Amino acid sequence: MSKFSDKVAVVTGAGRGIGNAIAKKLASEGAKIAAISRSVENSQSCAEEINSEFPDVARSYSVDVSNHDDMMDVGKKILNDFGKVDILVNNAGVTRDNLMLRMNEDEWDAVLNTNLKGAFNSVKAFQRSLLKQGGARIINISSVIGLIGNAGQANYAASKAGLIGLTKSLAREFASRSVTVNAIAPGFIVTDMTDSLSDDLKDGIKSKIPLGELGDVDDIANAVEFLAGSSGKYITGQVLTVDGGMVI
Ligand SMILES: NC(=O)c1ccc[n+]([C@@H]2O[C@H](COP(=O)([O-])OP(=O)(O)OC[C@H]3O[C@@H](n4cnc5c(N)ncnc54)[C@H](O)[C@@H]3O)[C@@H](O)[C@H]2O)c1
Repeated sequence: MSKFSDKVAVVTGAGRGIGNAIAKKLASEGAKIAAISRSVENSQSCAEEINSEFPDVARSYSVDVSNHDDMMDVGKKILNDFGKVDILVNNAGVTRDNLMLRMNEDEWDAVLNTNLKGAFNSVKAFQRSLLKQGGARIINISSVIGLIGNAGQANYAASKAGLIGLTKSLAREFASRSVTVNAIAPGFIVTDMTDSLSDDLKDGIKSKIPLGELGDVDDIANAVEFLAGSSGKYITGQVLTVDGGMVI
């Protein structure tokens, strides 16, 4: 029997990058997958790729996680389609970098609404089902930037630090129902989000990483697999930093 064979996992931002790798990893271990992304194309292509390898395992849902009502509607659809949710991975995230002196309200709102309110919305959409399942898991994808801050990313750092506060509070609230709630703080991982960085900037970043390399999406997917599985049953309210030693 596979590790997650009777489990249903919801992964937000599953269209590409880290979320895509997480959805595929959980599917490869037997989980049924509700793949959420903002665009129809991205969410569909994620589900199609998974289903081509593991038939009828994944369904796609396109929704903006920052929209509370839309997220509640999609939550109902997912619960109707799958009957329950055991694993919720809040991964959808955006950046709108700017120095504070130049940052405008739209840049602040876009990042906080997706990265932090989006996680609130998806917990609200699935909380009753998660609390009903024995040993359900919530895993929030934060960032090392939420731990150490970064010039030009006040909005992003605030959203990712907020996600850690949400994680620790929900860990306390949901513990009595054996639901664990943890955050993963990736360092610099090679994805579309980091692709736009210049080679000079990437070399500068590498020089600050003790392991000397940027991370891979599978480094994060492996951490999710660990926390979501039975190996993670006594771990809650924690931030697992996966960053090659950047933040020691
Ligand atoms: N790449 C890194 O180095 C890195 C480092 C630390 C943390 N993270 C975090 O990991 C997560 C994934 O990052 P990534 O690099 O794979 O990013 P990415 O931009 O490649 O993918 C993000 C995904 O989220 C989806 N998304 C964005 N806004 C959404 C919304 N409002 N509603 C629904 N879906 C939405 C996008 O469509 C996309 O599929 C993010 O939360 C990011 O902040 C990434």
